[in-house]
Amino acid sequence: MERKKTQVAIIGAGPSGLLLSLLLNKQGIDTVILERVTGDYVLGRIRAGVLEQGFAKLVREAGAAHNMDTLGEVHHGVEFAIDDKRVPIELTELTGESVIVYGQVDITRDMMEEREKRGIEAVYEASNVQPHDVKSDNPYITYEKDGVEYKLECDYIAGCDGFHGVSRKTIPDDVKTEYEKVYPFGWLGLMSDTPPINEELIYSKTKRGFALASMRSKTRSRYYLQVPLSDTVEDWSDERFWEELKKRMPKDAVKNLVTGKSIEKSIVPTRSFICEPLQYGNLFLVGDAGHIVPPTGAKGLNLAASDVATLYKIMTRVYKEGDKKCIEQYSPIALRRIWNGVRFSWWMTDLLHNFGDEKDFYEQRMETSELEFFLNSEAGKKVIAEQYVGLPYEDLK
Ligand code: FAD
Ligand code: PHB
Repeated sequence: MERKKTQVAIIGAGPSGLLLSLLLNKQGIDTVILERVTGDYVLGRIRAGVLEQGFAKLVREAGAAHNMDTLGEVHHGVEFAIDDKRVPIELTELTGESVIVYGQVDITRDMMEEREKRGIEAVYEASNVQPHDVKSDNPYITYEKDGVEYKLECDYIAGCDGFHGVSRKTIPDDVKTEYEKVYPFGWLGLMSDTPPINEELIYSKTKRGFALASMRSKTRSRYYLQVPLSDTVEDWSDERFWEELKKRMPKDAVKNLVTGKSIEKSIVPTRSFICEPLQYGNLFLVGDAGHIVPPTGAKGLNLAASDVATLYKIMTRVYKEGDKKCIEQYSPIALRRIWNGVRFSWWMTDLLHNFGDEKDFYEQRMETSELEFFLNSEAGKKVIAEQYVGLPYEDLK
């Protein structure tokens, strides 16, 4: 078995792992990233599109923001549409903040390139990645690459390996509590090289189900439809998708809809999931490895970024000031913001989707009343806007 050594071993080269490695590198802290699949495979996953300013600031600090700042679009508002009635939420007017529309694929590519340029080590196609002795002062990870077995010794392990990763499983069942809510529908996404239907994103609630109009640029659109969990991508020809979208977007917006050939189509299930705690010995769960939210509030990647921000501050203090005790702050600080994001995503998901028979007549009436209350008052819209642009990051004590 070949031996290697680093300070912080990172499992997973998604956005969380890459961002953490770039930030720690700026502080002179050594990292090695272990990733199960190829870089191209990582870039094939089309996911988030809306970045909070807190995330953008971190990417700037990490030195990978050039494309985001030149190609990303700053959005000062977002729209809700309830059965054809459009309600603009003026994010900047209400909060002084905005969001950036820039794809997860693009930000991941930018960070991958920056990592390579700075010579930070990443091992792609590493198999059988397994953390060991995470409660001890000498944790290590074993893995295989090209038929050779490796032992990577380290001080700390950052589990940035997503929902299906190995890190969370390392925490014994009697130590962790897992909270989960699985929703009875999925999101069918379609990407096309067509101009967006509207300047701002539209979150649309209709009797036929939820739909979202988003975008990546002036010439690339991203749309989503709520679909039954039993549906497959093969059930949805492009034509069927566009026809359904037309029925779920507000009529005066549909006039601007340009349809075209899809360049990607996929279905994702929707769930909320939270693992507590997020730290076990010298192992930390970061991003989707520790929590998942349904995509309705655009919070998943943004919560991953705030986890990274907290762990980055902690690791910097550990290595610069020798304060090892501060690692205990990771889980409580990260979880406070996560539960807020979980609540907002749950609220958006609950109110905007069609739950069919799962909601009785009373619950449906409550849903309408809740939406009317929030969308008909400036105070209500401000509450939505504050959460959509993202709550502030908490500092270490
Ligand atoms: P991941 O992106 O899952 O990366 C984990 C990495 O770890 C992967 O590359 C994986 O291959 C690797 N890995 C897994 N297991 C192992 C192992 N055993 N060994 C080594 N490596 C391993 N969020 C937002 O903030 N805004 C949005 O607008 C938004 N929209 C979304 C739309 C959709 C349709 C979906 C599905 C999600 C959306 N999200 C959004 C959520 C966002 O995509 C995720 O929260 C984000 O990808 C989390 O990043 P991560 O790096 O923590 O995990
Ligand atoms: C996206 O553009 O992919 C996107 C935007 C907003 C969401 C979810 C996904 O809430």
